[in-house]
Amino acid sequence: MKVLLAIALCLATCMSVTWSRSLRSSVIDDSLEGLEDTIVPLGDEPANYRAKRSVIRKPTALSEIMGPLSRRHARDVTEFERSNEVYYRMRSLLSILKILIGREPIIEIYHYVNWDKTITIDNLFYTAPTSIYQVRRIILVARYLGMRVRATGAGHSRSPLYVDEGNIMMDVRDLERHDGPRMQINPENSVRNYKTLTAMTGVYEYDLNEFMVRNDVTMLSQPLNVNETLGGMVAAATHGSTWSAPTFSGYVRELRLMDSSGRLRRFTIERHPELMKAIICNLGMFGIMYDITIQVYPTLIAKVHNQFVPLDSIIYNHTALRDTVTGNFLTEISWFPFNSVTDAEAEDYRRDGTIPTAWNAKRDSIWLRSITIVSEAELGGRPLEPTHFLPTKGSLSGGNEKGLLRGREAVAIAKRIPTVSYHHLVNAFPVILPPRWGTETSAAFMLNIDNQFTRAAAALQFIIEEAENQIKANGSTPLNALLPRFFENSDCDLCPGNYDISQPDDSNRTLVIDFLAPPAQYGFYPTARKFVDHFRDQKVRPHWGKRHDNIPGIIDHIKLVYGDNLDHFQRMRRMAQVDPCDMFMNTYLIEIFGRSGNWWCA
Ligand SMILES: Cc1cc2nc3c(=O)[nH]c(=O)nc-3n(C[C@H](O)[C@H](O)[C@H](O)COP(=O)(O)OP(=O)(O)OC[C@H]3O[C@@H](n4cnc5c(N)ncnc54)[C@H](O)[C@@H]3O)c2cc1C
Ligand SMILES: *[C@@H]1O[C@H](CO)[C@@H](O)[C@H](O)[C@H]1NC(C)=O
Ligand SMILES: *[C@@H]1O[C@H](CO)[C@@H](O)[C@H](O)[C@H]1NC(C)=O
Ligand SMILES: *[C@@H]1O[C@H](CO)[C@@H](O)[C@H](O)[C@H]1NC(C)=O
Ligand SMILES: *[C@@H]1O[C@H](CO)[C@@H](O)[C@H](O)[C@H]1NC(C)=O
Repeated sequence: MKVLLAIALCLATCMSVTWSRSLRSSVIDDSLEGLEDTIVPLGDEPANYRAKRSVIRKPTALSEIMGPLSRRHARDVTEFERSNEVYYRMRSLLSILKILIGREPIIEIYHYVNWDKTITIDNLFYTAPTSIYQVRRIILVARYLGMRVRATGAGHSRSPLYVDEGNIMMDVRDLERHDGPRMQINPENSVRNYKTLTAMTGVYEYDLNEFMVRNDVTMLSQPLNVNETLGGMVAAATHGSTWSAPTFSGYVRELRLMDSSGRLRRFTIERHPELMKAIICNLGMFGIMYDITIQVYPTLIAKVHNQFVPLDSIIYNHTALRDTVTGNFLTEISWFPFNSVTDAEAEDYRRDGTIPTAWNAKRDSIWLRSITIVSEAELGGRPLEPTHFLPTKGSLSGGNEKGLLRGREAVAIAKRIPTVSYHHLVNAFPVILPPRWGTETSAAFMLNIDNQFTRAAAALQFIIEEAENQIKANGSTPLNALLPRFFENSDCDLCPGNYDISQPDDSNRTLVIDFLAPPAQYGFYPTARKFVDHFRDQKVRPHWGKRHDNIPGIIDHIKLVYGDNLDHFQRMRRMAQVDPCDMFMNTYLIEIFGRSGNWWCA
């Protein structure tokens, strides 16, 4: 312990000396040939903090403290001992960080657990800067120490998109704009013959929606959840279920971010179309996104229609499936397994877990929620309603019910929502509330939709039959809810729905097979794995933000499916000079994308 303290003190003194000399320039080659126009002059930080010049990066500072204890090097101690040692060493590093960063923003050691408790990071440095100058300070300190930094929004992702243990998690939700309001509408101009909306990346969707309604503009698609941030949704290509609308990435027209040299950069779709193909879905690898400008549309009035139809009639008839999905503005299909049991069958099940021999999935109901766009005349003066949250009183899939009977209760709850209602479009997208008890996670895999929907129907049948078989054989279900969705592809390297990943007779749309269950529910992960194995040759790919990293071989498969798009993404990232030393990467992303491999990064 004494040795550590000595190292810490020495590092702190040596550093503050060099620190005061120079923070900004360095040996790192960060020239921007041809991209000088992307620099947004930021100037010195106002008020009391004097941003200091730069230093030569000392990769040894961090490695001396942490190196021997990274998971890779610590096979011979127990996880508890390892984690504890890391914590003690991080305490020393924390003092150094505090000296270098100054009073603000506060930086502390956190034990991190994400929203659905599928990702645990024993110890990381957590900070929530409020200004771009604070972001710059943290980035420059991290660069000096050779540490990694990754942004987070609401932490709703269920995959390893978070910063590695012992590094810096930067929560962007408190960031305020130095040169404008948190959200603003930009009128049409000579370059863009449409309105746009600029918002800070930390803005929540519910704030964005309220702002859009107030300003008579709309988006055309959104996820099932209003508690996510704009930055998180763009970074991971969050989708909805509108047939002819893209993921959040597809709306992006302009974006500002801070790179690993502490420069604020601005990229636009008009001036940097090739770079934007990479930037609009970047999984946090381009830097700390600051604000994002998206295309918006004149406000629309949505008619929501809730129906309950036999599963058989829509899942096992691809024509009906095609006509429904392509005939509506938006179609949301939900299946809660085992929902057709009668009262008598439910009694039997409650008594001894009997699965009725008469039950099968085809007999169950599908909750079919559709949106069509209507005119003022069709609205006929009816009031527009706010968002309807699914009133599940707890678990998404089934209120207070236990076991397989949750499916039936989930449908009963959904049936209490009005059959028809009218909303501003952004308030019409289906929204679920998080489970109040326990936790539920989601795995989601994407496939191309063919024009006839034969492949789409087959994928739905596969997952439904997997659940049906387990229910019959084992009396348990691998999934509590199946929420397939449909969206339009975009020109976007890393989007799971993009024009470069195609299949015969492609509709240029993507099917999402999204299914939910508590993380430990029997059969959940094996079913995800089986699905991926079965649809490998149809280029199945995961939703970046959902459970997928535990599927054996998934990384090689991702590389295969994205192919040239991965190369293009990496080329653009290098060309932009946003992160020559991989500050914004983590172990998982390095496995997929590799290291930048610049000699000066050590
Ligand atoms: C209940 C629930 C429902 C969901 N429903 C849907 C759905 O309907 N459709 C769908 O597609 N997904 C859905 N998701 C997944 C979700 O959309 C994504 O995980 C999304 O990324 C979450 O946003 P977030 O703000 O929580 O971001 P986080 O999970 O905190 O971050 C996600 C990624 O964005 C990066 N990031 C965030 N902010 C910045 C920034 N400022 N600069 C750089 N990088 C940044 C992070 O580094 C990370 O890589 C759902 C998740 C939950 C929990
Ligand atoms: C999500 O947002 C809604 C709407 O603003 C809010 O009522 C709810 O409390 C939020 N839920 C969580 C878990 O933050
Ligand atoms: C399948 O759906 C189509 C379109 O709704 C319908 O015309 C047809 O009769 C259905 N086929 C069967 C076998 O039910
Ligand atoms: C279902 O499978 C689990 C896990 O193998 C097992 O523990 C359980 O006994 C099985 N239940 C039935 C009814 O087969
Ligand atoms: C899909 O996109 C390709 C390439 O942009 C185009 O040639 C094709 O006509 C599109 N197909 C459909 C069904 O829109």
